[in-house]
Amino acid sequence: MKKSIISVAVLCAASLIFAGCGGSSPASETTAQSAPETTAQSAPVSESVTESEKKEGTAEKSDSPKKAIAVYFSRVGNTEFPENVDVVSSASLQTDGSSVKGNAQLIAEWIAGEAGCDTFEIVSEESYPADYDQTVEQAKNEQNENFRPTLKTVLENPGQYDDIYLAFPNWWGDLPMPVYSFFDTYDFSGKTIKVFITHEGSHFSNTIDTIRNLEPEAEIIEGLDIRGESVKDEELNIRTWVQENR
Ligand SMILES: Cc1cc2nc3c(=O)[nH]c(=O)nc-3n(C[C@H](O)[C@H](O)[C@H](O)COP(=O)(O)O)c2cc1C
Repeated sequence: MKKSIISVAVLCAASLIFAGCGGSSPASETTAQSAPETTAQSAPVSESVTESEKKEGTAEKSDSPKKAIAVYFSRVGNTEFPENVDVVSSASLQTDGSSVKGNAQLIAEWIAGEAGCDTFEIVSEESYPADYDQTVEQAKNEQNENFRPTLKTVLENPGQYDDIYLAFPNWWGDLPMPVYSFFDTYDFSGKTIKVFITHEGSHFSNTIDTIRNLEPEAEIIEGLDIRGESVKDEELNIRTWVQENR
């Protein structure tokens, strides 16, 4: 009972926070700049993941230097924005001058730069609505239904990685459901998962425990929680964390 009151309070607080500082008015997101472009090294989908390929990636450790991958999910790469989306007044969108990027995407790119590894983007087959509020609503419904979106990107040969850096946004105090799909698909037993979350006030919520439940045989390390609003000020912090935790 106490727990549910706290949960409701946390969710309410989160809603208030990101309604206020997630700040992106839906209308404002439909007005300027170019379509998103990602630098993700995710393999294009040639075929869907079959049952036999599910939970791919069981422990394959070797004596060679640790191999890492920076995996991320961002709203940007999972949304078809209209041409010229307005990144200036859209709090959760970032631009490097030439393309629109998500907060978790930026985090993953800095991690990859520091760790000297590739990135992989988790992309759902079905895009989320360009309208921010509609995405918020859809994400809530998906969560209520424990829905697992089909993914359209495939992580090739997951067993080769020792360290999985994972960056994603806090969605309703939880992982976005495509990140659950990702964990349903691959088995990271024996691997190390270093978790980075971006949010507008809820920090990690219970996501670390959730990932521990989803990957009980992996070592889960709490990385950094980064406020979306100030992600651009955190590059050095993120790079330093990676250097100190390799
Ligand atoms: C569907 C949805 C739900 C969200 N829920 C929360 C939340 O519960 N708590 C919070 O602090 N921020 C919440 N946010 C804000 C995002 O976590 C934040 O803007 C994040 O930096 C976006 O990262 P991205 O650009 O990689 O998608 C939510 C955003 C969306 C779109």
